[in-house]
Amino acid sequence: MCGIVAYVGPKDAAPILLEGLQRLEYRGYDSAGVVVSNKGLKVRKVKGRVADLAAAVPARFKGATGIGHTRWATHGVPSDENAHPHLSNDERIAVVHNGIIENADELRAKLEADGAVFLSETDTEVLAHLIARTTKEADSLEEAVRTALKRVVGTYGIAVIDAERPGEVVVARNGSPIVLGIGEKEMFAASDVAALVRYTRQVVHLEDGELAVLKADGFHTFASDARETAKEPLTVDWDTGHYDTGGYEHYLLKEISEQPDTVARTLRGRLDERFNVAHLGGLNMDAREVRSFRRVKIIGCGSAYYSGQIGAQLIEELARIPAGAEPASEFRYRNPVVEPDTLYVAISQSGETYDTLAAVQELKRKGGRVLGIVNTVGSAIARECDGGVYLHAGPEVSVASTKAFTSTAVAFALLALHMGRVRDLSPADGRRICEGLRRLPDQIKEILALEPQIKELAAKYAASPSMMFVGRVRGYPVAREGAQKLKEVSYVHAEAYPASELKHGPLALIGPEMPTVAIVPDDELLDKNLTTLGEIQARGGKVIMIGHRTADPKLANECIVVPKNEVELDPILLGIPLQLFAYHAAVALERDVDKPRNLAKSVTVE
Ligand code: AGP
Repeated sequence: MCGIVAYVGPKDAAPILLEGLQRLEYRGYDSAGVVVSNKGLKVRKVKGRVADLAAAVPARFKGATGIGHTRWATHGVPSDENAHPHLSNDERIAVVHNGIIENADELRAKLEADGAVFLSETDTEVLAHLIARTTKEADSLEEAVRTALKRVVGTYGIAVIDAERPGEVVVARNGSPIVLGIGEKEMFAASDVAALVRYTRQVVHLEDGELAVLKADGFHTFASDARETAKEPLTVDWDTGHYDTGGYEHYLLKEISEQPDTVARTLRGRLDERFNVAHLGGLNMDAREVRSFRRVKIIGCGSAYYSGQIGAQLIEELARIPAGAEPASEFRYRNPVVEPDTLYVAISQSGETYDTLAAVQELKRKGGRVLGIVNTVGSAIARECDGGVYLHAGPEVSVASTKAFTSTAVAFALLALHMGRVRDLSPADGRRICEGLRRLPDQIKEILALEPQIKELAAKYAASPSMMFVGRVRGYPVAREGAQKLKEVSYVHAEAYPASELKHGPLALIGPEMPTVAIVPDDELLDKNLTTLGEIQARGGKVIMIGHRTADPKLANECIVVPKNEVELDPILLGIPLQLFAYHAAVALERDVDKPRNLAKSVTVE
């Protein structure tokens, strides 16, 4: 949510900042700005996209130290004034910020009483005025920033420059990611490695409470008490290719289409054919510990939560441990009972979602054992957990999650297989699941080949005012994620219900204007599902069936037939046609597919 880029070195900062902001635009995209230092600060900021900012930056916008920002509004509407950077009144200090300053109103009142004139409605601007005041008595920008931050309550990732100290950038982190990039006689910083990979693979993640001073010849990091900290650079293996559309019209379609490979990567090296078990080296748990858990509790937000529901079902079925999923955003606020014999699993593609991070931190405070299922290596949630499983799905750029959702479900199948084989899952069932998992990449290719049919259906139903998604037990989280995808990218209203619940209320909505997408796997609940389809059709409702049965007009108006796997693993495949359906509905409605309105990729605020 919001993107930050900073540069200090021998080159002109502006082109580097603009290129970095373009790569971060998926994190926030309602306004953008840059500032460079060259005998004073030069600023450009605009409401709109990074391309609008690039057009507004003059050719002679020279300066070898600079910071930039792409915004997702929290305080104040998207506008030129509210866009970052924000400057102190003497135009000496410039700040870009991700996060929320909770005591901004109180600080603003005090600063105004002290003569500060505010030019925006943002919480960030208080930081510029505060730092400008502390700078007068500080020996360094680092000290000024540290002193100012002591008065701040809230979350931040910030980058700061001082017109009187060119050649220096100070960054700090508390709840909102900051990563440093180490170049050849130049330094970078950003809220996400995406902005750095074009220039360097050597990165350093700041911890909460840390601050760093960047100069062309290197960096120093400090804890909040000013003690210098020692940081080992990591080498990131993501390259710029991951951040290009690769010939596809949209990232969303590219990421849906990558799934045969991304699922293969999630599985790679983790299935043991000899004993039909899964090896998950990062769990940091021995067999005795796995056997000691009496419950599994899964937390995540949005699509991550829905993939957690698929995971809970897999763990109950394969490991026979009671398991449930809950939105992390709710969990963290309800003072949960944390039990020593419960295994907690946090899910996050970005590894930065604030609600999930805060829930993990709350669990850790209460002594809970937390595993992470995370895509972004070295991210805050991954570092906070006791162990976990990386998805290895590669960066996900489109705001709507697809390949990470599918890989999370696959990671849960591996975890459930691992836990099941340590407990009561038979070798024969273990073999059945291993073989099913190995079939997934090719079966996903078969589903992707259905794209022309799905595109036609999406175009036919995209104008519906609303759509119902239903599924039973294993199919219900698939229905929820299908509805979520459609809402996010096409803005078509969609509801998801357990098929069994339809007759307890929502059946009243069904009619010719409300088509239903029904998840109907060929499992022990098939007959029950077919009865539900009959009930819908009897009320004049159109049915789009996603399942394993060949088209039968008596059952459904439309039918998307996906390849059959083991019943426990079928949900992983049944979700993929719904991703394509949402994508093509959004294209048919001419939506901004990769950057849907009001959303951002990483929600790093409360
Ligand atoms: C998915 O399509 C959504 N954009 C959103 O629900 C997302 O899954 C959620 O915000 C959690 O993100 P995370 O996986 O990065 O934690």
